[in-house]
Formats: sequence, structure tokens, C-alpha cells
Amino acid sequence: MTFREDGYRAVDWAADYLERMGELPVLAQVEPGEIRARLPQSPPEQPEPFSAVLRDLDEILLPGITHWQHPRFFAYFAVSSAEPGILAELLAATLNSVAILWRTAPASTELEVTVLDWVAQLVGIPREWHGHIEDTASTSTLAALIAARRATGRNVVVCSEHAHSSVEKDARMLGMEVRKVPADEAFRMRPDALELDDAGVVVATVGTTSSTSVDPVAAIADRCAAAGTWLHVDAAYAGSGMVCPELRWAFEGVDRADSLVVNAHKWMFTPMDCSLIWTSRPDEFRDAFSLVPEYLRTTDEAAFNISEYGPALGRRFRSLKLWAVLRCYGAEGLRSRIREAIRLAALFEGWVREEPGWELCAPRPFSVVCFRTEGSDEENEAILERVNASGEIFISHTKLNGRYMLRLAVGNERTTEEDVRRAWDVLRDLR
Ligand SMILES: Cc1ncc(COP(=O)(O)O)c(C=O)c1O
Repeated sequence: MTFREDGYRAVDWAADYLERMGELPVLAQVEPGEIRARLPQSPPEQPEPFSAVLRDLDEILLPGITHWQHPRFFAYFAVSSAEPGILAELLAATLNSVAILWRTAPASTELEVTVLDWVAQLVGIPREWHGHIEDTASTSTLAALIAARRATGRNVVVCSEHAHSSVEKDARMLGMEVRKVPADEAFRMRPDALELDDAGVVVATVGTTSSTSVDPVAAIADRCAAAGTWLHVDAAYAGSGMVCPELRWAFEGVDRADSLVVNAHKWMFTPMDCSLIWTSRPDEFRDAFSLVPEYLRTTDEAAFNISEYGPALGRRFRSLKLWAVLRCYGAEGLRSRIREAIRLAALFEGWVREEPGWELCAPRPFSVVCFRTEGSDEENEAILERVNASGEIFISHTKLNGRYMLRLAVGNERTTEEDVRRAWDVLRDLR
């Protein structure tokens, strides 16, 4: 078999998978260790054909896949790896650009700057900000905290009790202290509760992980400006929604942030991983991250090395997949998919609201519904276990105000009204 023939078979495999994965159980139906036990203990001594890899993908690995592309994946934040992005990943691996310097990857560097400028326009943030791509929001926020600490000389990170755990983890890795601010009844950070005298950075969240609540960024920005505190906005999930003008209220004040993260791999239909970070203070980022040893010095004076703005030296060609999605979907395509996810979440929310014995647990600004039955925490947890074990749907849970609740997140571009209806039927049947 040649590369070309294997390639056709791999693309056929991908196309078949996308067509039929809706019939597979969403959540992998395996026990821990089961896949490992079925894999050879040692690598092959002799080369094997690529067809053997495809065969074992089907026979050994597929049962151990939780299908994130499945239209009834409603857990965490439901995401999509869109077809143009899948193909672009193949091309990126083919090129294997390693962007350690502009000269080692001029196209990758300049496309990255361009797509970040495109997305800045799409989500309504200042175009003059520096933007680049990191792997995950955890890394993007880590970079922001590093720049913030260096710029302010302060070691305290302030965030709401609903901020994502990555903020606390990043702070812990950096030896920074975390101070949590209480939230209001709609799970939004309370700006009046901020104490910023010694705060290096406030992390405000637009679209918190549990309930997708939106911290009041404008009021927080006022407080940060007065205290000389860096403002980092975590819009990992909801930021993509800002392509829709009717959702832009959630970004009010974000133009006054020092840094912002939006995960294109969450709600911008881009394959994992693609975390977009912007800063209005590029010089502070450069101060924090630029370290150019002799072997990397070049005479390209006008060149721009993205590696001087973040932790990694070698950077892969992530912008290619985002570019492919933006071009093949267009702003209209992004907007219509985001609106459809919100429409479906609103439908589901309405069914829960109308059904005796069930309750809604949080406002729904975007496409995530928090709900539960009126039973105990244990009863709700048992429902979650039952519906997920059915393989029909996959949902996740959280705790709000100390109470256990279920979360249904719509975001996969293949999810239809029928899928959401089925989710509701399964939940009521297995209650
Ligand atoms: C609001 C928020 N921020 C950050 C993260 C972390 O994202 P990543 O997995 O890209 O590190 C998440 C993950 O769901 C999130 O919901």
C-alpha cells in the first residue's frame, strides 16, 4: 500500500465514522484497564502495514472511545470537530511546520496572526490586540497569570467561586495565592466583594463551567483599573458565541481587559486543540516570555516570533484548521450553528420547566441547561448514572449552592431537535 492508498482508506474511515457514530453508545462502555489489556504489551519488532492500525482502531480502540462527535453528547461543553478542520489537521501534520521562529514557519506565523485578527473582528474585540494560539485554556490562562505577575509585581489571583479549576491549578503551579470572591444569586462574581489592594490579577469568566453565568466584566474592569490589577477574561466556552450580535451583551467591558482566552475547540467547531489568547499588553507578554538563545538568533529584523509571547518554543500549525473552518463556514455558518444550539437548549429548558417534578437550577444565557428532579441529590446522581449507562445520551453534573444537579450542554453541530427530544425522553423514562 502506498501513502496515497492508505490515505484514501483513512479518509474513508473518517467519513464512515462520521456517518455511523450516531448509532454507537455515546459513552464508552468499557471498564478501566480493559483497552490496555487488549493492546500488545510490547511494540512490534517488524514493520506492520497501516491497514493493521486501521483494523485495530476498529476492533480494539473504538469500543474505548467516548464519542465527542456524537449528536447526543451533551456533557461538559459539547463540541464539534468540523469536517474542514479534520482535513486541515491532516494537512498540518503533512507539512509538520515547527514554528520556533518566523523563519522556520513564515506562513504558519502569519496565518496565525491573520486568523486571530479575523476572530477578533468576529467576536468584537479590538483588532490591535496581540493574539496567538495555545493548546488549551489552561495554558492560555497560565501565560496570562505569568505576564500579570511580572507586570504588577503582585502574587494574588482573584476569581469567583465559579471560575474554572484551571485558574486555581495555574496559580498553584506558579506559587500564586488564590482568593475566591462570592457570587450573586445568578452565579456571577460580585464586584462589590472584590478586595484588590494586593491583587495581581482578576480572572473574570464569561460563561462559567457549571452554569455559564457571566461575570459583570465592565464593573470588574473599573475596579481593576483603579487598583492597577491585571484583568484576564476567561471566555473559553462562551467567547465563540460573540459572533452573534444578540449575545454581545456578555462581552461588555471585555475591550478593557488585559488578556482574554476563547477556545476555538469549544464552540468554534475547530478540532481539539485550539485555544485563542489575546492581550492588549503585548509588551508585557514579550517581557515575560522572550528568551532567545544564540542558536535562535536571526537577521530577520522585521520578523515576529510567536514563541516570544508564550511558554512553548516549538509551535504546531494550529491556525490552519481554524482558517479552514472560518473559510468553509463563514461568519454566517458559525452564527447559524450557535443559534441552533441555543434554540435547542431553550426547547429543552422549556420542557423541564413545564414538567411536574423537575426544576431548572440556573438562568440559561447560552446553550447549557442546569436542571434536576425535585428528588434528593442521591436520586439525581442515580439518574445521571442510569442515563449515561444507557449509551443513548451522555450528560454531566455539577453542584450549585451545594446541591447536585444535571447539566445538558448543546454544542455539537450534528445535534438535532430529535436528539434533544430523545435526551428528554431518556431522562424521563430512566428517572
Ligand atoms: C470556563 C472554562 N475555562 C477553562 C477551561 C479549561 O479548558 P482547557 O481544557 O482548554 O484547558 C474550561 C473547560 O471546560 C472552561 O469551561
